[in-house]
Amino acid sequence: MNGARILLGVCGGIAAYKAAALTSRLVQRGHVLDVILTDEAQRFIAPLTFAALTRRTVYTSLWENGAAIPHIVLARENALVAIVPATAHTIARIALGLADDLLANVALATRAPLLLAPAMNTAMLEHPATRTHLATLRERGATIVEPESGFLAEREYGAGRLADEETLVRDIERILGRMRELAGERVLITAGPTREVIDPVRFLSNASTGTTGIEIAREALARGAAVDLVLGPTQVPPPVGAELVRVTTAAEMYAAALARAPVATIAVATAAVADWRPAQAFDEKVKKSAEPQTIALKRNPDILAALGERKNGTFLVGFAAETSDVEASARLKLTHKHLDAIAVNDVSGGAGFGTGDNALALLFGTDGRIDLGRSSKRELAARFWDALAVVRGTGG
Ligand code: C5P
Repeated sequence: MNGARILLGVCGGIAAYKAAALTSRLVQRGHVLDVILTDEAQRFIAPLTFAALTRRTVYTSLWENGAAIPHIVLARENALVAIVPATAHTIARIALGLADDLLANVALATRAPLLLAPAMNTAMLEHPATRTHLATLRERGATIVEPESGFLAEREYGAGRLADEETLVRDIERILGRMRELAGERVLITAGPTREVIDPVRFLSNASTGTTGIEIAREALARGAAVDLVLGPTQVPPPVGAELVRVTTAAEMYAAALARAPVATIAVATAAVADWRPAQAFDEKVKKSAEPQTIALKRNPDILAALGERKNGTFLVGFAAETSDVEASARLKLTHKHLDAIAVNDVSGGAGFGTGDNALALLFGTDGRIDLGRSSKRELAARFWDALAVVRGTGG
C-alpha cells in the first residue's frame, strides 16, 4: 500500500522497546511516522532511537516547541493515531478525556482513527476499570489490538503481552486501506424520524432513533467519504466530521435531501419518514375541551422516490422496515423507486427500532442478496459498506 502519515504514541512499559522494531517496519513499508513518547516511555527507551529510525523530530512534551502548538498540528496531519504499547494509565486517560500530556492531548484533538495495543500485567488488564475503559474506547470506534497470552516481564505466563508485530502492521494497514475505500465519494444519508406538527406542543412521529443511519454515516467517514447527514429529531449524537443538516418535518427533510442530491455519488435513505402529516397544523395549542374528534391526514412526499426520479449517476440505496412479506415488498420498492440496492430488516416484534442490535440483508438486481446477519448497528454499518463495495463492483 502507499505510505501514510502515522502518529505513533509510545507509553511506559517493558514492551516500549518493541515499538522501536514496529517503527522500523512501518518506515520500511513506506509510512512516515511522527513519534510521541510519554515521560514514562522515556524511562524504558530514548527518543534518539525513534529519531534515528524515522529521521524526524520525536515529540515528548506539549511545551518544548514554543509557538508551534504541536498537539493540534500532530492531531491534524496524521491519518492514524496508533498507541503501542498502551498502558492501563493511558487507556484510562484517553477514555476519560484527561489531556495531561502531549499524547493524551493529541488523542483528544484528533479526528483520525485511533488504534491502541494494550500491554500490561494480567491482573491490570483484567481489572474492571481497564475493561470498562477499553469497552468505552471500542464503543467510540477505536480499534483495540488485543494483547496475547505469553511470557510476561514478571516471569510468568498470562494475558497482557503486546500483540506481535505482524498483527500490529496488519491492523494498522487495514485501517489505512479502509480509510481510502470511499475516498472521493460524497455520501448523502437521511436518518432519524420526522415530526409532523399537530399544534405547538403535539406531533405525530415514530420510534426511530436514527442510529442505523448515524452508524452508516460514521463508517462512511471512517472509509474516507465526505458525508452529508440529513438528520431528523433524535438524541443520538451524530458522528464528528459529517456535514450535518438538522430537520424536523418530512417536508424539511425532503428539501434538504433534494438540495444535496445533485452532488452525491451515493445516497442512503435510512430515515423513517412519517408517511402522513396532519392536513392542518394549529398555531395555538388545541384546548382539551376543543379536542378534535379526528385528525385529517395528508400524504408526505416520498423523498427516496424523488431521489430515484431525479437520479443522475447517484448510487441509490433504500431501507425497508416491514412486519410481513419483508423481502417481496422490498424488491417492489427496489424497482418502483429506481434503487440500486435496498437493505431490509424485519421489524416484527419491535426488533430494530430503538435497539442496539439489528438484522439486515441487502437486495439488489433481480435476485441479488447479501445477508449481513444479526449484530450491533455499528458492526452492521461496516458490513453494509463491505457489501455495497461488492454490489458496486469496487471490492470483494
Ligand atoms: O415505502 P417505504 O416507506 O417503506 O420505503 C422506505 C424507504 O423509503 C426508506 O429508505 C425511507 O428512508 C424512504 N422514504 C423516504 N420518504 C418517505 C418514505 C420513505 O425517503 N416519505
